[in-house]
This record gives sequence, C-alpha cells and structure tokens, in this order.
Amino acid sequence: MNSLQGKCALVTGAASGFGLGIAEAFTAAGARVGVLDINADAARQAADSLGDAALMLCADITNRGSFSAALEEFQNWAGSFDILVNNAGVGLPPTPLEEVKEADFQRLTQVNMHAIYLASQWVVPVMKTQGHGCILNIASTAGVSPRPGLTWYNASKGWVITATRSMAVELAPHHIRVNALNPVAGETPLLATFMGGDSSAKREKFLSTIPLGRFSTPADIGAAAVFLCSDEAGLITGVAMEVDGGRCI
Ligand SMILES: NC(=O)c1ccc[n+]([C@@H]2O[C@H](COP(=O)([O-])OP(=O)(O)OC[C@H]3O[C@@H](n4cnc5c(N)ncnc54)[C@H](O)[C@@H]3O)[C@@H](O)[C@H]2O)c1
Repeated sequence: MNSLQGKCALVTGAASGFGLGIAEAFTAAGARVGVLDINADAARQAADSLGDAALMLCADITNRGSFSAALEEFQNWAGSFDILVNNAGVGLPPTPLEEVKEADFQRLTQVNMHAIYLASQWVVPVMKTQGHGCILNIASTAGVSPRPGLTWYNASKGWVITATRSMAVELAPHHIRVNALNPVAGETPLLATFMGGDSSAKREKFLSTIPLGRFSTPADIGAAAVFLCSDEAGLITGVAMEVDGGRCI
C-alpha cells in the first residue's frame, strides 16, 4: 500500500539506524525523501541507495544556519513540505547523573531538544502557509519509563513527548498534526552506547525487560512512522506511540 504517495518528507539523522529505516519505509510508501545527516558520506550512501526519490542533505541540526539551509534546499527540491521527522538524536553511556560532563549534557540537549525548536521555527510557518503538515518526533520509552544511569537522556525524551503534545494542540487549528514514537532499545549503532558496550550478557539483561522478547528494528520504526504520517492517521495528533514489545506496560 502506497499510503504516502505524492508526499514529500524530510528525515533528520537519516543516514543510520531508525532514520534510515524511516527513509526506506517512506520511499517504499511512495514519498520523496530528504535524507539529512551530519555525516556526509553516510548520507550520500543512504540517498544513493534510495534512488531518484531521495535528496542527500548534509547539515548540523544544532546549527541554525546549517539546518535552515538544508530545510530550504529540501523545500526547493520538493515543492512542498508535507512531513518533517525529527529523528536525529544522541545518547550517553550509563553514568551516575552527577558525573555527566557538562559538554556531553550540552550536546545531548542541543541535538535532542534544541534542534526541534530550530526546525519548528523554519518549518511551522511554511506548514501554516500550506494549510497542512505532519511532524513526527522520535522520542523513546526512556521518556515514559526511565531507568537509572541515563537520567539526562531520559529527561530529553520526556521533553520531546511534552513538546509533541503541546505542539499538537497549538498547531491543530492549522491542520498540522504532531506525533511522537517511543521506540524501545533498538538494533542501531546507538544500542551499544545505551548498554555501556555490547555483549550477550548485556543484551540478555535488556531483552528480559521486553515482553515480546526482541529489540526494535529500523523496519519496526519505519512502519509505525509511515502510519502516523499517512492520511489514514488523519485524526491522530499528540500521541507518543510506544513501539516497544510491551516494555512500558
Ligand atoms: N537505538 C535505540 O535504542 C533508541 C531507542 C529509543 C529511541 N532512540 C532514538 O531514535 C533516534 C535515532 O537513533 P538511532 O538509534 O537510529 O541512532 P544512530 O546513531 O544510528 O543514528 C543517528 C543519526 O543522527 C545523526 N546525527 C547526530 N547528530 C546530528 C546532528 N547534529 N546533525 C545531523 N545529524 C546528526 C548521526 O550522524 C546518525 O546518522 C534518536 O533520537 C534516538 O534517541 C533510539
């Protein structure tokens, strides 16, 4: 089913992990996609793998000038700005909360929170003028059911969930829907950071908290993203939907 046929979507952090899974699912559903990432080589490779339906965009979403230039390039290429996915995010290794270095805290808040503010300043006026739009923020189960050792990351995702709900209610009169996804620990390069390294014992510990018994995948997140950004979800706004195998129950 091509439920995003004719739509244009920009995905941040689309060169890797969930962002790449979302970009793949979006193009498979008929969308044209802006593949934005700070890693130019990986973004180029991802966009090439998606063919003519993709535009490679290299930008640092924490920098207003860099991010705005990429958003404008996308708008010129696409002709409309139907969907924005604020996916790019960074994690922290498990650390007692009082020991997290200020520079790491600042980077975390710049990428996970401040970039959503910057994106909104550029995109919301465009979507208001269009009279429609859809914004999807990638939060986390960490924002709903926090675990020790990742406090500032958990808090950043709680911020994303509250921002999503507030954006949804404020932008609804403009026919702009805003939703979030809360993935459980996923099979991406970020997983080892959250686990404090990768080993079968660490994986087993995480998996024991997921009733369905597996990590999330980029394909799981891509499928959920297609649904929430499609017209079939036209009455859904302000939700932060778990894709978590039952982890938050
Ligand atoms: N993997 C998990 O276990 C998990 C679980 C829940 C939520 N999440 C969230 O999902 C999202 C994607 O995570 P992932 O696991 O796919 O990570 P990832 O590291 O595989 O991909 C993140 C991408 O974002 C890009 N990026 C980072 N900083 C950037 C910047 N300043 N400007 C532009 N691009 C930048 C990176 O280059 C990378 O390609 C994040 O918001 C993360 O917090 C991940």
